[in-house]
Amino acid sequence: MPEFQEKCHVHAIEQVAPDVFQLSVHAPRISAAATPGQFVMVRVGEGFDPLLRRPFSIHQQFADGSLSLLFKKIGRGTTRLSRLNNGDVIDIIGPLGRGFDLSCQEPVGLVGGGMGIAPLAFLAKRLAAGEREVAKDYVLLGARDRHELAPLAAVFTALGYQVRTATDDGSMGHHGFIPDLLADIFSEIQLVYCCGPHPMMKNVVNTCAQADVLCQVSLETHMACGLGACLGCTVAGRDGNYVHVCRQGPVFYAGEVGWAE
Ligand SMILES: Cc1cc2nc3c(=O)[nH]c(=O)nc-3n(C[C@H](O)[C@H](O)[C@H](O)COP(=O)(O)OP(=O)(O)OC[C@H]3O[C@@H](n4cnc5c(N)ncnc54)[C@H](O)[C@@H]3O)c2cc1C
Ligand code: FES
Repeated sequence: MPEFQEKCHVHAIEQVAPDVFQLSVHAPRISAAATPGQFVMVRVGEGFDPLLRRPFSIHQQFADGSLSLLFKKIGRGTTRLSRLNNGDVIDIIGPLGRGFDLSCQEPVGLVGGGMGIAPLAFLAKRLAAGEREVAKDYVLLGARDRHELAPLAAVFTALGYQVRTATDDGSMGHHGFIPDLLADIFSEIQLVYCCGPHPMMKNVVNTCAQADVLCQVSLETHMACGLGACLGCTVAGRDGNYVHVCRQGPVFYAGEVGWAE
């Protein structure tokens, strides 16, 4: 699969919720080659502080050669990114990894928690651009509160999906967790695409297995290189071997990886 390193101009940086930012850049070669679920490695500054690139899912991809990332400010790298201005130049490598398998033609569920919602927007847009009737597909989204969730949920509603939400504080949708809502839609879907915090994904994977519904997950591990060179991103595979999340993933069928931890 083609990978590119591009010096990208920042088109826009917008704060969409407290500590959550959407960064749009012009990256024509990466944007043209990207498929939903793939990620990029972003160099977050010059010099050695912070030393490493940071991985981010491709949140949106546009025909004009731009793409956007959705990120939460949690540490040094994301704080630096949040301070970028229009016209600044950043160095990005991508598209990286294996994205979602889009071959299922039956109704599906897209299930995202927190910043795990980021890759699902690109996925939802790509699915909606095909032949399928997305009004039969579901999107289940969870986040801390409505400030974080409302702007993200609007993207999926506008595409015509049936959107259900859950928040930790009950300020939007179901007061509780997204897996609580899964049972209601199992009779109508064949496959779940899932991305979010590890405990939530583990819960979704178990719930899908009990209902005999296929599940694809996008894993987030610490990644130093994103290129298969450092072994920093390995997780246990189902067969006992280790898999590189950056190369063999980040998207896996749930049965391809172990869920012991
Ligand atoms: C394939 C992939 C796609 C990702 N997509 C997104 C995305 O779309 N939006 C987004 O906001 N984030 C995403 N992440 C996570 C993102 O890479 C981290 O939030 C970012 O690297 C943090 O950098 P930092 O320098 O700000 O934090 P650091 O200063 O490096 O760390 C701050 C704290 O966060 C913890 N942390 C950092 N990275 C991770 C991680 N990957 N998993 C668990 N804990 C971590 C650290 O242990 C530390 O406690 C993705 C990660 C991967 C592997
Ligand atoms: S992040 Fe270096 S091998 Fe995967």
